[in-house]
Amino acid sequence: MKNIVILISGAGSNMQAIVRAAQQERWEQRLGARVAAVLSNQPEAPGLAWARAQGLATEAIAHQGFARREDFDAELQARIDRYAPALVVLAGFMRILTPGFVAHYAGRLVNIHPSLLPAFSGLNTHERAIAAGCKFAGASVHLVTAELDAGPILEQAVVPILPGDDAAALRARVLSQEHIIYPRAIAQLLLKQ
Ligand code: GAR
Repeated sequence: MKNIVILISGAGSNMQAIVRAAQQERWEQRLGARVAAVLSNQPEAPGLAWARAQGLATEAIAHQGFARREDFDAELQARIDRYAPALVVLAGFMRILTPGFVAHYAGRLVNIHPSLLPAFSGLNTHERAIAAGCKFAGASVHLVTAELDAGPILEQAVVPILPGDDAAALRARVLSQEHIIYPRAIAQLLLKQ
């Protein structure tokens, strides 16, 4: 069985979409894959409570308890590796990862970013797309490499930016598309493994 480990920091709506897709599309039977655990750097992340209520294994590692970024990533890596994951899925995991961590999971670490990469890497993507006068926005699923938000793109979804949109309206429109493309990209990756 191929194990998927999902990392979250907040609501975890993408994580929920992935867990639901795994159930509805019978990933265990079709892909030989299952969501093995959900880990978070935020013990109070609402998504963690949701995952626990689903009966999934959950773990929280508060990053404030670590003096150096490398120390947190080393602990995170040790916890993740107990599940021997085929795929590590960043789903709103709001941490910059160290190069050693990224290298350890090369080819099996994926992220979703709320912009049409390579445009608007980093934070506040929706605010910046609106301020730039863009007519379209979107989301990108990509393999994670050492450079922030710059790995090979696996899937993208495009949405219009409508007159009067504020960041919250655009975020909601993009997020609904994220929930479609992220499970699809993960299933494709698992099929190729
Ligand atoms: C999503 O929009 C995701 O694309 C974004 O955080 C949100 C998490 O929502 N990720 C990043 O900005 C990564 N740099 P969720 O917790 O409801 O899935």
